[in-house]
Amino acid sequence: RLPMTLPRLAEKQRLGEPLVMVTAYDYPSALAVDKAGVDLVLVGDSGAMTVLGYESTVPVSLDELLMLAKAVRRGLRTPFLVGDLPFGSYEVSDEQAVQTAFRFVKEAGCDAVKLEGGGPVSVARARAIVGAGIPVMGHVGLTPQTSTALGGYRAQGRTAEAAGRVAREALALQDAGCFSIVFEAIPSAVAEAVMPRLHALVIGIGAGPATDGQVLVFHDLLGIREGRGARFVQRYADILDEMISGVAAYADDVRGRRYPGPDHGYTIPDEELAAFKE
Ligand code: KIV
Ligand code: NA
Repeated sequence: RLPMTLPRLAEKQRLGEPLVMVTAYDYPSALAVDKAGVDLVLVGDSGAMTVLGYESTVPVSLDELLMLAKAVRRGLRTPFLVGDLPFGSYEVSDEQAVQTAFRFVKEAGCDAVKLEGGGPVSVARARAIVGAGIPVMGHVGLTPQTSTALGGYRAQGRTAEAAGRVAREALALQDAGCFSIVFEAIPSAVAEAVMPRLHALVIGIGAGPATDGQVLVFHDLLGIREGRGARFVQRYADILDEMISGVAAYADDVRGRRYPGPDHGYTIPDEELAAFKE
């Protein structure tokens, strides 16, 4: 397969082929999503929670996320790779945003970056990064970095006024030059109503079936977590259970002296062993 490019993504959109996006945070998850044949991969700041164990995405640092992005790059061949700009790494100034975006491209080999929000600051930063030559994905609706201001992890755009704001923010991000916009946790009917006004690639998560594509968090869809997760998550495997039973079986074998067995050991010629023992 050839590397995914923006023109090829736009062609799929034109043909009405749903775009498949998933997160990845390290080398093995990158190998898995690459071999599964997804179109886009996001090194999400959700990695703060899924692989680093933070309570939210707020505390993760730029260096931490860059380390995850570099590992993903090493395992990925075909999909289009997007790096998520962590909270605090782009809001301060256009200069800060462009510098951070360059690190994702130059150090981690990302094809694009993503930032959250459609207010004046996010729109200005998106425009600045696009102006510097780096494709930008926007993200509206539920934006976890600022969830405190949104009243927690809850669906957005559920009143006429709130839906209007989501629509205005998406259009502003598109006008700023974003090639794509994530719609997170908004009513399906709101997403559907806004779609005709957007030529950017719209990737939904909890936004219904009308968007150009879907994104899910790797650990949510594979069940590498405790608990069910959000309403919009569909679980396709129970990998945490598999991991626990695999390690428990190993522990059991060690304690029962069934592992290691004869085939797991190395040998030494008898005469060498005899000489060694003298
Ligand atoms: O960090 C993340 O995983 C995301 C996706 C859910 C869009 O931002
Ligand atoms: Na994110």
